[in-house]
Order: sequence, then structure tokens, then C-alpha cells
Amino acid sequence: MVRETRLAPEDFILPLFARPGEGIAKPVGSMPGVYQHSVDKLVEAAAEAWEAGVQSVLLFGLPEHKDAVGSSAWDDDGIVQRAIRALNEALPGLVTIADLCFCEYTDHGHCGVLEGDTVNNDATLENLARQAVSLAAAGVDVIAPSDMMDGRIAMVREALDEEGFDDVAILSYAAKFASAFYGPFREAAESAPSFGDRKTYQMDPANRREALREVALDVDEGADMVMVKPAVPYLDVLSDVAETFGLPTAAYHVSGEYAMIKAAAEKGWIDGDRVLLETLLSIRRAGADLVVTYGAVEAAKILGQGWEP
Ligand code: PBG
Repeated sequence: MVRETRLAPEDFILPLFARPGEGIAKPVGSMPGVYQHSVDKLVEAAAEAWEAGVQSVLLFGLPEHKDAVGSSAWDDDGIVQRAIRALNEALPGLVTIADLCFCEYTDHGHCGVLEGDTVNNDATLENLARQAVSLAAAGVDVIAPSDMMDGRIAMVREALDEEGFDDVAILSYAAKFASAFYGPFREAAESAPSFGDRKTYQMDPANRREALREVALDVDEGADMVMVKPAVPYLDVLSDVAETFGLPTAAYHVSGEYAMIKAAAEKGWIDGDRVLLETLLSIRRAGADLVVTYGAVEAAKILGQGWEP
């Protein structure tokens, strides 16, 4: 009766990886239960999530071709664009969120256009705007910029509005740290940088106050929702962000966080189901309205059986 925080399937956002082909569900080794799906299989996975009560998915794409600027990201017939159309047709109530970034589309694996060995912020902004408009034209509900370029929210908002997509919302990865916890994702999305790291655009894990400045910029620029990422190692930041801005706040329980639970459970060292749910509860307790998690469907099913902390 007096419990302060509750978990429900509609709090979860399920990440899905779209790849070319048909009839393919290729398991990701470091993330048990996670697959690269061809569009037909991705629709089946989303339908299973929907059945379990999960109402939104976050889409990533593995394109057929990569190049220096990541041009297949703004191809109107690109892999994520096709996934969005198929999802809208099969599951009209589902909220589709598209990750906006270039690391999956560039042949060097960095999140933007390179100039020498560094990412050129402003040249990347132009391309993000193109990618956003193409995803909106495909029918996406929410755009989620994860690249961490400065000024991207304003740029994307303006581009969307200019093209008549003022109803498309922006969920900004506003405080995204340069984290070692993204390792398994880079296998799933085939997006590891071919040299260097992402420290010139992602945040220093040591900085709590800077996170608030980063979020404030995105809010000013027009973000509708903000995200902190990773989740558990940054619950202090999440709590600050939720209290300071009062916007719908999301947290990304990232690949490494998920993989650690799975690995320990496989060894029989922890009860994986209970640890997953307690973890998601802790993220909600710290202030997240929404939790992006690879365990969304599992967690929803466990909740359906009447889980108690
Ligand atoms: C794209 C992106 C990344 C993740 C989400 N969007 C990888 C990165 O920044 O290297 C990571 C998600 C996860 O680890 O689950 N930039």
C-alpha cells in the first residue's frame, strides 16, 4: 500500500536492431536474448513485446553499405526507414523511436563526419538533420539523437518543423557518458570506432555538474524528453536531471549493464530475473519515467506473473 515506486511494462522501451535480409534473427553473442533482426522478424519481436504490454521500441540499423559520411542513414529506403513503415502497418499503436547517430553507418565507426582524426561537429549537424527528416517521412513518432554533437537538438527541431514534422517528438540522449559499458552494443550494432574513442563528444564519467549543463542546453534547444545513459552507474545524475528539469526523463540501462546480469545469472551466481527487476526498479526510484532496456519483454512477462521486490 505504501510502496513509493512501481514498475509496469509501459515504463519500458525495447531496443531493436534491424538488418537486411529476410527470416533472420541473428543472436548477439554478448547479449543473450538480443538479436539482429531482418525487418519481418523485427516486426514479430515488436509484436511479442506489444503482447507483453511494452508500448515502445527504440530502433537501430545495420545498413547494407557504410561510407565515410554514413549516407545510408538518410536513405528513404534505408533499413530503419523500412522497419518503421513495417511496424506502423503491423502495430499502429506502437510508439516508434529512432536512434539518430552515424556510428552504425560510417565505415570508420565514429558518430559523424571526420576531419583528420576528429569528428567535425557542424558538418555532422547537417547530416543529422537529413537523417531526422528521412526518418520522420517514414513515419517515426520520436527521434532520439544519441551522437552528442553540440547544437543538434536545435538543428533537428528546425529541420523537422520546416518539413512539416512538428508532431515528431525529440528524446535527447542529453547526458551520455563516454562509457565502457557500451561494449556489447558495439558488437550488436557493428559500430565500434576503428580508431580512437568517443571522448571528444561523449561526456567524462567524472562530471556530475556538467551533465546538468548538457541537459539544460538540450532543453533550451527544444528537447521534449531527456535521457541519461548509462543508467545504474549514473543514478546520481539521473536523480539530479529528473528533479531539476521535470521533463519526461528516460534512462538507458545499456548493453554492458544487461550483459553483466545475464553472465552472472548464467553462472548461477545470481537470480537473473530478480536482479533485473530490482535494477529496473532502482532506475525508476532514482527518477526515470522511462527505462530503455534489453530486458523489457522479459521484465514485462515477470511482472505479469506478479513480481514483488
Ligand atoms: C550510438 C549509440 C550507442 C549506444 C546507443 N546509441 C553506442 C555508443 O555511443 O558507442 C549504446 C547502447 C548500449 O550500450 O546499450 N552512438
